[in-house]
Amino acid sequence: MNFHVLTLFPEMIRQGLHTSILGKAMERGCITLETTNIRDFAANKYNRVDDYPYGGGAGMVMEAEPVYRACKAVEETIGRPARTVYLTPQGRVLNQTIVEELAMEEDLILLCGHYEGIDERVLEEVVTDYISIGDYVLTGGELGAMVLIDAVSRFVPGVLSNEESSQFESLQDNLLEYPHYTRPEKWHGKTVPSVLLSGDHKKIEAWRYGQSLKRTRERRPDLMKNAVTVTCAYYAPEEKWQEILRQTTEEMTRYGTMLDIGRKKIRKQHNHFETEDFLLFAVPAVLPADSPLASWKEFFQSFRGTQTPAALILYGPSPQEDSQTAFAGIEQDTVYGADSRSSSTDCADVKPLDDPIGSIKKILQDKGFQILDICTHPESISERRRFLLGLREKIYQGIRS
Ligand code: ADE
Repeated sequence: MNFHVLTLFPEMIRQGLHTSILGKAMERGCITLETTNIRDFAANKYNRVDDYPYGGGAGMVMEAEPVYRACKAVEETIGRPARTVYLTPQGRVLNQTIVEELAMEEDLILLCGHYEGIDERVLEEVVTDYISIGDYVLTGGELGAMVLIDAVSRFVPGVLSNEESSQFESLQDNLLEYPHYTRPEKWHGKTVPSVLLSGDHKKIEAWRYGQSLKRTRERRPDLMKNAVTVTCAYYAPEEKWQEILRQTTEEMTRYGTMLDIGRKKIRKQHNHFETEDFLLFAVPAVLPADSPLASWKEFFQSFRGTQTPAALILYGPSPQEDSQTAFAGIEQDTVYGADSRSSSTDCADVKPLDDPIGSIKKILQDKGFQILDICTHPESISERRRFLLGLREKIYQGIRS
């Protein structure tokens, strides 16, 4: 990952980031940091880059031309246009989902403003994202850029060691992390919760989940409002897809449940869900001939929601297939399973729609699910990650409100 910072104070950025974990990550080459002094692109012999605002008022405004030239010079070194983030209190407030999404870029240009801001016309031409690090006003964008670089770098492979890994952590489920303890067992008369000494990993995990919920309720009720409990209901006869779907669910949540609809026992039980749940349905685009499921209709038969948010993954026959191939196998009778095994379901009155995906959507809506998104070709890891990040963004921005 390459960070390119456009600033009037390059020293501030360099000194702030060349130490500790990020400094080491730079030495190892996992991330690079290049600073560009906007003043070097001043269009006058005094190296002035700001001027009085049209219309009057306090303060100075950074001129369009030096910012534009600095930006184009950086784009030239990258070799193509890159995502350009302007740090401003007027932007989207940075959160973990935005951080993870930015971490998928190869290059990021970060533009730091000063004084009263930057001439609007150049922002319109070069900026792709407006990001704030919180609802307060700083003297410039540099601290915002450093915060963003630190948070994003944690998701760049190789930056954190295994122990520091960012796979499971605070905010992944819109929950705060549980409390941590280390030696000694007794300190200032306070003992470590006994469950942590029990060696029973299931109990420890349940305790941690309970503590996360309690903490979030007490300290950040605003987050709790949008937290969901994730269940992945899947049918994956191939082991390869079972593993991919397990990993996909783990990326979405630390505390998820997997429901294998290939198992009769699971199909026979009542799978009822509430508003606070989130269902990730995953089925093959084409049901194999020897499938125990007569149709997709049968897959969804035991499910009921209560305006429960949900998403659907229709995966292809093999990760090498492209999206065209994955779609090609979706026929009307695959959706409706033109067979007798499931003739008495409550979906029988669903009329075939022009598009099979629309049909599945209709079945799920009739069963009380709110479909947030559908992913029809999740073959690549980045495709799946973007899909999950999009879902997380939707959920945590408050679908229930
Ligand atoms: N520049 C000034 N204030 C800022 C903020 N809150 N976030 C990002 N950049 C800023």
